[in-house]
This record gives sequence, structure tokens and C-alpha cells, in this order.
Amino acid sequence: MAKDQSEDKDVKSDFLDILEDSLKENTFVKFTLGKYRGSEDGLENIYINPVKIKDEVKYALRYKYKTRDIYKNHTAEEAVNIISDEVGRNFLYGGLFTTVNDFVLEYNKKRVPRTYTRKASFSRVEIKEHNRIKTRYIDSKDKYLNLLGITNMKGEVKGDKYDKFRQVDKFIEILSGLIDQSAIADKNEIEVMDLGSGKSYLTFAVYNYLNHKLGLKAKVTGVEQREDLAELSNEIAAGVDFTELKFINSTINDNTISKADIVIALHACDTATDDAIAKAIKAKAEIIILAPCCQKYIRKQIEIPENLEGIFRHGILEEHLSSFITDGLRALVLESYGYKTKLFEFISGDHTSKNIMITAVKDEYTEDMYLRKVVEIEKMKSQFGLTDFYLDKLLTKTK
Ligand SMILES: C[S@@+](CC[C@H](N)C(=O)[O-])C[C@H]1O[C@@H](n2cnc3c(N)ncnc32)[C@H](O)[C@@H]1O
Repeated sequence: MAKDQSEDKDVKSDFLDILEDSLKENTFVKFTLGKYRGSEDGLENIYINPVKIKDEVKYALRYKYKTRDIYKNHTAEEAVNIISDEVGRNFLYGGLFTTVNDFVLEYNKKRVPRTYTRKASFSRVEIKEHNRIKTRYIDSKDKYLNLLGITNMKGEVKGDKYDKFRQVDKFIEILSGLIDQSAIADKNEIEVMDLGSGKSYLTFAVYNYLNHKLGLKAKVTGVEQREDLAELSNEIAAGVDFTELKFINSTINDNTISKADIVIALHACDTATDDAIAKAIKAKAEIIILAPCCQKYIRKQIEIPENLEGIFRHGILEEHLSSFITDGLRALVLESYGYKTKLFEFISGDHTSKNIMITAVKDEYTEDMYLRKVVEIEKMKSQFGLTDFYLDKLLTKTK
């Protein structure tokens, strides 16, 4: 006999009732969402644990991807809503651990649910203080993080700065991997430029990592068009005795870079990223790290090929296309100058959900490769009717 669908709903809602009761009665230990069947690339699990933030209990959701983790803190009610949305839809497994019992809600391939109960794996609830964090790459106890407002006087990450802390740590992890692949791995003295350094969280962390963790002699310079930010960053650098860290009040374009081993330009607006690329190529940087934003320059010029008009008549898709073409062409230009490039998604600390990062590591330059890439770039440009690509204006062939 066919099963009534409402029975399935009851199975789920009974399970969610147990979850809500465990949260109210403080018997909730943790929750695991598994068997991901959704469309988000690389997502495997969501782990939910209680954490204490400023004496308040919140629920930390760790979105575990193949290559990274993203953390988000929620109230109990929000956590229940997320679990309710996800289990049975994107995740086929929900495991609730309480001090009373472990409860499982599982769906088979036909999305038919069943629940079962096991003896409790945990006898007590542990609520971690979530803000005292030492990661592999940055340490919340470091004074510069306090002066930058990321941590309090006790070296604890402030509740609203947790995402930023994770972002900085992730960035240093990426930088560390790039250094290992580059010629910098064999150098003792290097120069770094951070173009559009803003509040300079990354600039300080880069300085600290290179000088104090890797033991290099690294001169780091932040270039920032806002005078107040450059000034404040210089004061903080003096306050922590980062003697080779300096901030210049200038635009990227106006600043002359004679030498740089590493060039960073994260979230510098529109064509400021191109200014940074051109400067980095001219300075023969070994490593270039970019997180472009608002790629508007080519938007008005793009001619959508006739066979794609049906798709790109939607403004938002055309906007994304403009970003993809801009960043794709930037990568090709870097490759034409002998760089190995990678494009991937980088977590942002500023609540913009997605972010493309372009990394480039200097490899061998060959005339043959240059010419091949130029042909590829021109072909791509003509396909989308682009006659004016900003980066072209900045680069007269520089090997
Ligand atoms: C969104 S913030 C990013 C800061 C930092 N790079 C980060 O990712 O955390 C961008 C900063 O770049 C600066 N900026 C944008 N365009 C610039 C340019 N052409 N020259 C110098 N600074 C620029 C802005 O003033 C701002 O402080």
C-alpha cells in the first residue's frame, strides 16, 4: 500500500520537535548534517555546535567544504530553521546528539525518511568559548590584531570580527602555499606591496607571517588612497614595532613600484585591479594575488553573440558575464607574461557571499607562449566586441 506523504512529514516534524526540546532543555550537544546531495560545489557537511560569544550561547555552523571551512553563528531558532530547510532536501542525514540519546533522521534514495535512536554518545554539554583562537597561520593573541580591532585586550576574537579573522587566516594559508611554489622560497629578503590596503588587516598579517613566522626579512608597503586609513595604519605599525611596514597615501596608479616580489590587490575597485596587475608585471613580481571587485569597465561594450542573447538578456547575467570575461582576460594576460594562474572562490570578510581570487606565480616566459596567448586574448575580445580593454592600455609589452 502506498505510504501517505503526511507520514513522512510527521517523521521529520517529530524529529525537529526533539531537536527544539533539546535546545530548550539544554541537553543539546551537537548536530551533524551529512550525505549532501545539493548543488553547491564541494560542500560535504554542516556541523553545529554551541559556542559562547560575549556570555551568550549561539550556535556555530561549520560548513565543511572539500578544501575549506566557512563558519556562521546563529541563534537557536535560526539554527533550527536551517536544519529544517536542509535536512531531507539537500542533506539526507541529520544526526542529533543530546545528553539523553543520539537521534538520527535519515532519508533513502527515494527521500523516504526514517528515524532511530541510539544510546547517548555524550554525557554532558560542552559550550566552548569560541573566541580564543590560535590557527596555523595567525594567532589571536598577537598584539597587532588587538590594535586593528579584531581582538579584545585578552586576545580573544570579537564576536563580529570572527569572519574577518578567518578570512585573514585563509589568506595567509593561500600566500604560504604560493610562496612554496615560487622562487621566493629560496630568498631571505623580499619586498611586498599591498595595493588598496584599506584597514590593512591583511597587510599586518602578511608582515607578521613573513617576518615572524617564516623568519624572512620582508619589507611590506601598503598603498591606500584614503589618507586617514594610511595614517592610522602607520600609527599601528609603529605601536607594534613593525619597523619595515609602511603605508603610503597614494592611488595605485600614482604610486611608482620599482621592485616587488609579492603584489597583493584585494577588493580594489574596478580598474584599480588592472593598475595593480600592470605594476606587478612591470616590477617582475614572483607572486600576484588579486581579488577583483565590480568589474564594470567592459560592461557597456560587450556585444552578446547572437546565439547567446536569450540567456544574457537578463541584466544580472550580463553583469556576471562582464566579470567573468574581465577576470578571464586578466588571467590570460598574466599567462602571456609567463605567470601560472589560478582562479577560485575566496571567502570574504565583508559579507559579500562570493569572491573570485586570481593568483599568479611567475614561471618561465617564452616569446612563443606570449604570442599564443595574445592570439587567444584577441580572439576572445573580438567574440564579445571588445575594442577597449583597460589593461591593454597599461601594458606595452614588458617581459
Ligand atoms: C574594500 S577595501 C579592501 C581592503 C583590503 N585590500 C582588504 O581586502 O581587506 C578597498 C580599499 O582600496 C582602496 N582603493 C580602491 N581603489 C584604489 C586605488 N585606485 N588606489 C589606492 N587605493 C584604492 C579603497 O580606498 C579601500 O580602502
